[in-house]
Formats: sequence, structure tokens, C-alpha cells
Amino acid sequence: MTRRNQNIEFKISDKLCIKIFDAVKKAAVSLNGESFVIGGFVRDLLLNRPSKDIDFVIAGSGIDLAKATSKILGVSKVSYFKNFGTAMLKYKGWELEFVGARKESYQRDSRKPIVENGTLQDDQNRRDFTINSLAIPLNSGSYDTVVDPFDGLNDLNQRRIVTPLDPDVTFSDDPLRMLRAIRFAAQLNFTIDTHCFESIKRNKSRIDIISQERITTELNKIMLSNKPSIGFKTLFSTGLLEIIFPEVANLQGVESIEGKKHKDNFYHTLEVLDNVAQVSDSLWLRWAALLHDIAKPATKRFDKSVGWTFHGHEDKGARMVPKIFRKLKLPLDDKMKYVQKLVLLHLRPIALTKDEISDSALRRVLFDVGEDLEDLMILCRADITSKNEAKVKTYLRNFDRVVEKLKDVEERDHIRNWQPPIDGAEIMNIFNLKPSREVGILKNLIKEAILEGEIANEYQEARNFMLIKGKEMGLSPVN
Ligand code: CTP
Repeated sequence: MTRRNQNIEFKISDKLCIKIFDAVKKAAVSLNGESFVIGGFVRDLLLNRPSKDIDFVIAGSGIDLAKATSKILGVSKVSYFKNFGTAMLKYKGWELEFVGARKESYQRDSRKPIVENGTLQDDQNRRDFTINSLAIPLNSGSYDTVVDPFDGLNDLNQRRIVTPLDPDVTFSDDPLRMLRAIRFAAQLNFTIDTHCFESIKRNKSRIDIISQERITTELNKIMLSNKPSIGFKTLFSTGLLEIIFPEVANLQGVESIEGKKHKDNFYHTLEVLDNVAQVSDSLWLRWAALLHDIAKPATKRFDKSVGWTFHGHEDKGARMVPKIFRKLKLPLDDKMKYVQKLVLLHLRPIALTKDEISDSALRRVLFDVGEDLEDLMILCRADITSKNEAKVKTYLRNFDRVVEKLKDVEERDHIRNWQPPIDGAEIMNIFNLKPSREVGILKNLIKEAILEGEIANEYQEARNFMLIKGKEMGLSPVN
């Protein structure tokens, strides 16, 4: 491997960044070492994607370099990761990582890397892609050249993901890189080099040795890219999706019986996901889009008179969400509940598009969706993927009407973020009850009466109603 220094076309202009580079350079010189900025920061700088995470590498000890730099910058807190020989410090909104140049490889079937000290060249060799192997030497102080042994600059210009070594070697060193290749291609809108692509297909089963957390980090980055379908289509065509997310891979396929076909739910789902991504950066709304039809394969039936049906897929899909979140090690808190709710409710606004829709049906949707109504409507609109423009227009207009009606009912009845006008404690007080089934029944009767429009959503009417229902149940108020 030859070491090639190439001039880059611009100067780093950020004053703080230059101050940091100067400090690291000084620290390296004091340690008699040569230091470099390497990896994602250099790539993003050349692509004009601002980044505040900088990785520094030194032929020597990354920990010593961090220590010396922290003194020069006047930073007192440095985190050391002795097992990995790395260190990290934060400085005025920047995150700086320090590592000693390494030769490293992963043993087959083991997650434990063998790490040995090495030169910059060794370090560049063991990196994932040519565009991530570019290094800016700091010791000269001019910061306008890159060390580019693998033609990474050319790959940046050609917008290509290429591995520095034979891709079978690079991917076997760390199989997560197969996902990283797909993620970078999706994020940066690059293509994956053919050898690299074929190697991913060959080595896909090696992904099994990678922890779920690392896999899910990459999945989330694909989800957050501008057009997530790009990443998912590549995951599918390499065969990785089948392994890491079979539920989504299973959506693919079209069956035909008696000349009747259903749509391909994989490509439909990806269209919905892209539609959502165009209008929202919310990761969890995007997850709801990815999972909204997840139970279609499990609920698919063919009926001679109506053709293909997927009855109950929203309900079954919602029940699949916790299992999927658990498996993917996604959070099981209110984010999961939010996704589950949107999957469950994604067909409800369609039912509201009928002309003769009752206020109680509208109130029930408001009650069930609560504060997430806007997100549900984004999902419903995104779910219209018909190629017939006239149809799309009609559906969208119908949804506008539904939103108007919901707004109208909400203004009158205040159902979103509904709090019962009479709570359990008051029911127990009035009838001198301990926590019991009766309290639950009364609470539910009040809620139902409000949603059905039998009584107004306010205290006095709810109280009167409760007294009548209590009496019917054989209860008597204490005073
Ligand atoms: N790297 C690698 N193999 C990996 C992970 C990282 O070779 N499996 C190297 C790459 O040179 C990468 C650098 O370590 O550029 C830093 O990794 P990381 O911070 O994960 O990625 P970035 O390239 O900075 O990109 P992003 O921040 O978007 O993840």
C-alpha cells in the first residue's frame, strides 16, 4: 500500500475546529508522535455535511494523546476506555475521540477483537470503507491534505461504497459493516460497489455474531434517512432483511388466485414509509409506518366473492409490536405504546369518511388517539399509495373532511386528552366503597355515556348520571 497525500480543495474555516486541531497537534508533538484526523469527520467535511464528532488517531497511545490534549484545552473530564485503548472528551459542543493506530481483526465466530498496535497505514487498512479511511495529517499544521491510500476521494466523487481490502476480509473482520454499507448508501445516496454487494450476499449469515443493539442502531439510521426505502430494498436484495427482520421481509410477494391479485405489501409499506419521511423526521412515526401492515401475511385470506382480505390485521399487528420491539431491543416504554396505538388505529379514519358519520364515532376516535391525532392523519394520508391520481385526490379530500368533523366535535366536547369529570376516588367517597369492581363499572358507564353523547362532558351531568346508575346497582350515596 502506498501512502498518497493529496491536496484537498478547501481550508477548514471553523475557528474552534482549528483550535482543536492545533491542540491535538501540539499534544502529539509533545509525545513525539504523528497524529491524524480520521474517519467520518473527514468524509463528512468533504461532503459538506457538518459534524462535531472528530476521531483522532496516533501511532502510539490514544489515551496519552487525550490526556495531553485535555491539558492544552483546559478540559478536566476525560473518559477512558482502557480495554479498547480509546478515550473521549467533550469540548464546547464537540466530541473528540482518541485512538492509538491499530491492527485489528475479529476472530471468526467470536465477538472479541485481537488488537495490536500499528501504524497509520495499518489503521487505515482495517477500516470499513475507502471513504472512511481518509486521514488529515495534523503535524504539518496546514490541515489541507489528506492521506488517501485507497482512492477514497475518487469514491467520494463517484458516490461509491467500496471496502479498502477484499470485501470478504473487511466484512469478516466486523460483519456489522455489511449493514453499515447499506446504511451509508441510504444516508448519503451512494451506490454499493458490485464486489461489495456480492460479498454481502455471500457473508450475510455472519451477521448472527453481531449484537442486536448494534444492528438496531443501523436500522434506526436507515429509518431516519431521507428515503428509507433505499436502505430497506438493499437489505432485502442482499438477503439480510430475511435474517434481521423476517417480519418485514415476509410482506414481500404477490399471490394470484382466479386472476385476482393483492398488492405487494413490502413495496407498499416502503412507499408509506417514504411518504411519512417526506413530512416528518419522527423516528417513531416512521416505525409506525413500517409496521402498520405487519400482520397482513398472517391475516391474509382469499374469499371467492370478495377476493383477498386482511381482516383484523390492524389488531393483530398492534399485538405484534411489543414482541418486535423486544426482539429488536427498541424501547418498551411509551414510544412502543405510541407505535402500537398508531398501528391499531390506522384504519379508523377511513371508517369516518362516510357521509353519515355519527358524533359518537368521531368522539371515540378522538378518545382512542388522544394527543396523537395529527400523527395518525399523517400515517393515513401516507397510506394512500394508489397510482390513480383522481382516486388519491378524492381520498385526501375525504380525510380533510374527517379532520374538519373531528375538529368540530373536539371544540364542543373536549375529548382529546380526556380526563374523567368524576374520578375513582370521588366515586368511592360518594358511595363509601373500597377499590372494587363497582368503581370500575361506574367509571366506564360515565365514559361510555359521554362518548355516546348521552350526557355532556362535564361534572354536574356526570355526577347526576352516576347517582342514577349507582342506585340501579343497589348502591346508595353516604349523604
Ligand atoms: N469504523 C470501522 N468499522 C466499523 C465502525 C467504524 O472501520 N464497524 C471506522 C470508520 O473509519 C468510521 C470510524 O470508525 O469512519 C468512526 O465510526 P463511527 O463513529 O461509527 O461512524 P462514522 O463514520 O463517524 O459515521 P456515523 O457517525 O454516521 O456513524
